[in-house]
Amino acid sequence: MTDLTLTYDLEAVRADFPILSEKHHDDVPLIYLDNAASSQKPLKVIEAIDTYYRTYNANVHRGVHKLSEQATKAYEDARIKIRRFINAGSKREIIFTRGTTEGINLVAQTWGRVNLGVGDVVLSTVMEHHSNIVPWQILAAEKGFTIKYIPILEDGTLDMGAYAALLRDNSVKLVVVVHVSNVLGTVNPVAEMIQQAHAAGALALVDGAQSIPHMPVDVKALDVDFFAFSGHKMIGPTGIGILYGKREHLEAMPPWMGGGDMIETVRLEGSTWNELPYKFEAGTPIIAGAIGLGYAVDYLSELGMDKIHAHEQTITAYALERLSEVPGLKLYGPDAAQKGAVAAFSFEGIHPHDLAQILDSGGIAVRAGHHCAMPLHTHLGIPATTRASFYLYNTTQEVDALIEGLYKSKKTFAL
Ligand SMILES: Cc1ncc(COP(=O)(O)O)c(C=O)c1O
Repeated sequence: MTDLTLTYDLEAVRADFPILSEKHHDDVPLIYLDNAASSQKPLKVIEAIDTYYRTYNANVHRGVHKLSEQATKAYEDARIKIRRFINAGSKREIIFTRGTTEGINLVAQTWGRVNLGVGDVVLSTVMEHHSNIVPWQILAAEKGFTIKYIPILEDGTLDMGAYAALLRDNSVKLVVVVHVSNVLGTVNPVAEMIQQAHAAGALALVDGAQSIPHMPVDVKALDVDFFAFSGHKMIGPTGIGILYGKREHLEAMPPWMGGGDMIETVRLEGSTWNELPYKFEAGTPIIAGAIGLGYAVDYLSELGMDKIHAHEQTITAYALERLSEVPGLKLYGPDAAQKGAVAAFSFEGIHPHDLAQILDSGGIAVRAGHHCAMPLHTHLGIPATTRASFYLYNTTQEVDALIEGLYKSKKTFAL
């Protein structure tokens, strides 16, 4: 029997997202299964941005006029909403960034630049998105530390035995790990990993780009040192994201970008820095984006992250079952119980890009390629996969349409 406390009115939710009633290629309904790349936006978010520009557009923190006060309040209210959403201890721990990528680069260029050097190790994993590999590589080339990678087991989960062994080397200073893989869908045991990292004297940074839109996240309970995510994957606008950092770390870190708002005083001989979080928010911030993200968080909270998670688990389990019945299709990653709302696969005889194009002609938007996880694809021994990824508004009928589209593609290629 369905647990009614874990369901919501799917039709009503879909009606909140205007794009879902648009026709694709002018005549077919849009079936949007590319949510891991970016999510659609509800009217509430679109209208919040529109209202800001129409009625109280002004710069924040500087003006003494009413519009600026109104904009500042909305911008800071968004920060408070996000603090609550992830259960951070203080709004000073919530830094607005452009997204996950910028958040990770900020930590690399501030905490990393001060704390990492020759003889140190940053521990990462083979399943990371490029945004949690390349910033560390850039810094390692300059600072001379080593990056080591936790291997993946056959079932697409991390080799936790290897992790424990790698931690035994006392030179690990930082563990950087993706919460949910954007290809395999693997939900990594980050709470346990953070605990082990701390026991070994290392800090932990979690890439939350694919977890925070889909499941409840409590940074205090995780005891995570840094947690980065993007607004556009959680029904918010593009160009806005969050870096959460424990206050003690953020206080000790030097600023990254210099400019307006991040200073306390500027003299020609030198400058002093503003208090948190402004020390890390140089220049005019992404005001409309932050306000929009605040409304996105309202929407997700009202619906309930536990319900969203339950809905997605149902859809994903259904999709995995149906996909596994398609001849010639190979799925990657663990089974539904250990997986986020992502199904990446290869289809015998059809290149992922061709497959994505054929599906698109039928109104089905999926993604094909390496999904910014080239080392993972190298590990899997394939250059690319096709990826269907689900969100709070997807339906089992849309999964059926995907399966039908796969059979049609097979016929097109006369396989
Ligand atoms: C796991 C993961 N990390 C990081 C990113 C980067 O996010 P953004 O491009 O919004 O900075 C993505 C985006 O696809 C992702 O899936």
